[in-house]
Amino acid sequence: MLARKTLHLIMACTASVSVGLASLSIASAQATQYAEKPPLLLGAAWYPEQWPESRWEADLELMEAAHLHLVRVGEFAWSVMEPAEDKYDFAWLDRAIELAAKHHICVVLGTPTAAPPAWLTTKYPDTLRMDEKGVRDEHGNRQQFSFASERYRKFAHEITEKMAERYGHNPNVVGWQLDNEYAAPSFDPEAKAQFHAWLKAKYGTIDNLNNRWTTSYWSQTYDNFDEIPVREKGENPGLLLDWKHFVSDTWKSYSANQISAIRPHADKRQFITTNTMGWFDGFDEYVVHSNLDIAAWDDYIGDEHYDWLDNGARHDMTRGFKDKNFWVMETQPAFVNWHAVNSTLARGQVRDMAWQAIGHGADAVAYWQWRSALNGQEQYHGVLVGADGTPVPVYDEVKQVGEEFDKTGKALEGTTPQSSVALINDYDSRWAINFQRHNRNFDPVAEMVNFYGPLYKQAQSVDVISVHDSLDKYKLVVAAGLNVLSKETADHLLAYMKQGGNLVLGPRSGMKDEYDALNVERQPGPLVDALGGRVEQFYALEDKVPVSGDTGSGSASLWAEQLSAKAVDTQVLLRYGASNGWLDNQPAAITRKVGKGTITYVGAWIDDDLLAKLTSSLLQQHGVKPILPDAPDGVEVCQRKGNGHSVLILINHNTAKAHVKLPHEMRDLLGDGSRTSVDLPAYGVDVLSEK
Ligand code: GAL
Repeated sequence: MLARKTLHLIMACTASVSVGLASLSIASAQATQYAEKPPLLLGAAWYPEQWPESRWEADLELMEAAHLHLVRVGEFAWSVMEPAEDKYDFAWLDRAIELAAKHHICVVLGTPTAAPPAWLTTKYPDTLRMDEKGVRDEHGNRQQFSFASERYRKFAHEITEKMAERYGHNPNVVGWQLDNEYAAPSFDPEAKAQFHAWLKAKYGTIDNLNNRWTTSYWSQTYDNFDEIPVREKGENPGLLLDWKHFVSDTWKSYSANQISAIRPHADKRQFITTNTMGWFDGFDEYVVHSNLDIAAWDDYIGDEHYDWLDNGARHDMTRGFKDKNFWVMETQPAFVNWHAVNSTLARGQVRDMAWQAIGHGADAVAYWQWRSALNGQEQYHGVLVGADGTPVPVYDEVKQVGEEFDKTGKALEGTTPQSSVALINDYDSRWAINFQRHNRNFDPVAEMVNFYGPLYKQAQSVDVISVHDSLDKYKLVVAAGLNVLSKETADHLLAYMKQGGNLVLGPRSGMKDEYDALNVERQPGPLVDALGGRVEQFYALEDKVPVSGDTGSGSASLWAEQLSAKAVDTQVLLRYGASNGWLDNQPAAITRKVGKGTITYVGAWIDDDLLAKLTSSLLQQHGVKPILPDAPDGVEVCQRKGNGHSVLILINHNTAKAHVKLPHEMRDLLGDGSRTSVDLPAYGVDVLSEK
């Protein structure tokens, strides 16, 4: 069924046909102008430059038939936009955008800087990135540029500005994606010199740096900034952490360069974003998002199987980058081409994933990609249309999603998930732990997801945020491994607790200061006094250690910290059983009141069951209630609120059907009428609103 808005757009477009060719282009370009675009967008990455123009209309017709209202275009098309230095050709792109508009499809323009043309890198090889060993990339593949190269930035600015001058007021262009998946830094001489200058600006004097990095260790003392090596591994932890900060700032300025080319020429309504990669930790996403308008990410399932909790956590983290709804700029139409075994999502799971994105606050979902180029590195990747230009089997499932987005868009417009629980995502801590895992299996992201799982299942909504964000609205804040904890951050957390907030710190918290040096108080560093206890010693575990307390019994693996409870009012929640002698009968988790709130320290990587019991007791204690208390296991419950609407999204991630009782009669937005319970088949979805 065509949504009312779409019908209106078609009428607007049809009306323009009678007024002649010149005005047609303007009228049809207005057909999907921003104010008229559907509130939920389904779309695909489309590469018109890879196809004869005579084919475009057929593609767009198929997209329109599947209710796709969005294409992302242009992000690798530099050699077509600027075939030779200073020779531009945008006529094809003008026509592609206009034709998309005719089919009620709006456009996100990608700046093409992730794939420089051969003329550029051949004439200016200094723009190519260099690896740690000093080897320059050659032309080929993609992302072969140096993110720090001033010359590359000049070219990037020029091509971006040309695009912005041309499309900054195009009513059918809704936003901009800068580059594509920022990733590898460069270690070329220019980047190194910038790192040295960055260090000088941060530390002022070399003595200050020597002091913060404790460079008397192994005779590392530097006489001036230029002597400092640039490496990603095996160096002083202070250096490694600063390199990551430098890389984050450099990607931010890489964005700023292109933003400064777009903003002066673009309507305010056109957003600027870039597409990120979930748990990727090459830079601090909060820094890189600070000059972007919205967050957008590429949702590919990590290890060939769809782990809905892990995927949900990545959605929530992306929402947290700007603390507002986000876009899924790419996702897989069933399978990818870059795993060892590129297994497919089962029938129904593509729809399941699309709705999960919406449930967690996405306002757009775009598939990568519409159709494979006939040649190129990604011929085996999942698509919506095959080499012959006709739909592949998953197209129908995507079409169903498109129909459903059109149906529910109005109700979901202006709504967003709302949480009273937050999980901290801290890049400094993730890096610091990864620099020195001490137990090779201690993956800081896995430990975050360990906490996220039960919190999400029990509270049914979790924000994943930076430790520097405002915490006031949360009843419970959990930092799974806040390894780097400065005095300033500790004060921020203390202020939260004193006002009634409840903080839970996981293992390895508070070990380091902001220079990655050891905190002299032991763990949790500047929060030792508030906790009334501390970590006496940490142990990497090979074998499991029993752990028990009032909430239940279980075991610790990978990591165990021997805690002490020094203050009289510090309570022991969990204790270790018999183990290496050091841990026997020692506290494993302790808690204490702080002002109107509490601090809890969990010193061990504890098993899923025991962790679930612990989080359940903490949530109850601090008054966090689930949205739908009796939802069956594996049925995800998402709620978006706002704009006077409250919408429930139910997703059955199980392979068996599930019955869900609703709290009261609700309106079924996918089916008809209202209901008090829902039967969901395997991977089934329903969307309901308050009557
Ligand atoms: C993404 C990338 C796309 C495409 C896709 C394939 O990382 O942004 O251009 O390569 O992977 O899964």
